[in-house]
Amino acid sequence: MTALLDGTAIARGLREEAAASAADLRGQGVVPGLAVVVAGDDPASAVYVRNKTRACSEAGLHHETITLPANVATADVVRIVDALNARHDIHGILVQLPLPPGVATAAILDRVSPGKDVDGFHAENVGLLVQKRPRFVPCTPAGIMEMLKRSGIAVAGRRAVVLGRSDIVGKPMAMLLLHADATVTVCHSRTAGLAAVTREADILVAAIGRPGFVRAEHVREGAVVIDVGINRVESRTLAAELLDAGRLRAFDAKGYAVVGDVHQPSVEGVASALSPVPGGVGPLTIAMLVQNTVRAARLAL
Ligand code: GUN
Repeated sequence: MTALLDGTAIARGLREEAAASAADLRGQGVVPGLAVVVAGDDPASAVYVRNKTRACSEAGLHHETITLPANVATADVVRIVDALNARHDIHGILVQLPLPPGVATAAILDRVSPGKDVDGFHAENVGLLVQKRPRFVPCTPAGIMEMLKRSGIAVAGRRAVVLGRSDIVGKPMAMLLLHADATVTVCHSRTAGLAAVTREADILVAAIGRPGFVRAEHVREGAVVIDVGINRVESRTLAAELLDAGRLRAFDAKGYAVVGDVHQPSVEGVASALSPVPGGVGPLTIAMLVQNTVRAARLAL
């Protein structure tokens, strides 16, 4: 029996806590404010940004979105970030990734004032996280740690395997699990004998961006599996391979499906618990962004 971890319910609790904290700040005359910078016309980014700003509204935060064309110059993004850094009513700044190919991503992320870097992507915040004195922790791995904690899943002393080594998820996830006293292995596209390594995991986090990649052969009986993938699948052949009958009907109605990195039908019954896609990590990422923005406002006070 595999328990499905309900990210939506956990996220609701986190957002309620953030809303209460925001109300307290408003009582002191401060409305926490988030600015989102999005460049280009990536449809997935547009959806993410809408969901993030809606969550901010619901928690009583101020938010604004600055939308830029795909051909924007790095210098123009720098100027916009500088202007947001200087504003007292904006406590958090989020630059939605990916930026268009012509924009120097690292330069932009390091331009965000570290005290307003609610994504935790600035080099200074990455360094603080590595030194176990975090200021802002990247939202997706922070949300996963909350999910483990609030689901009563022990981390200390257990083997954790992180599949994927991105700056946004894989690396900070490994650091958080390490700081929670797990024994951590990070796997990637060049890992030899991958399934043998992932089968060592008591806790397996999949963040590689490959639909349905993790199957029963990668999972030890009784492991906890956290699916971070958000992959849009438009091929019916692939959808038929990855989805159960109910979700395939939804695919046929919509013409696409959002699928995680884990092949849920094959892992169900092997894992003891699974954070599914959708309804798992995604809502937690958004809740942590709201929390980080409220924290940024508190730090500014
Ligand atoms: N693109 C995909 N995930 C994220 C995220 O957590 N933050 C930002 N800024 N962009 C993203």
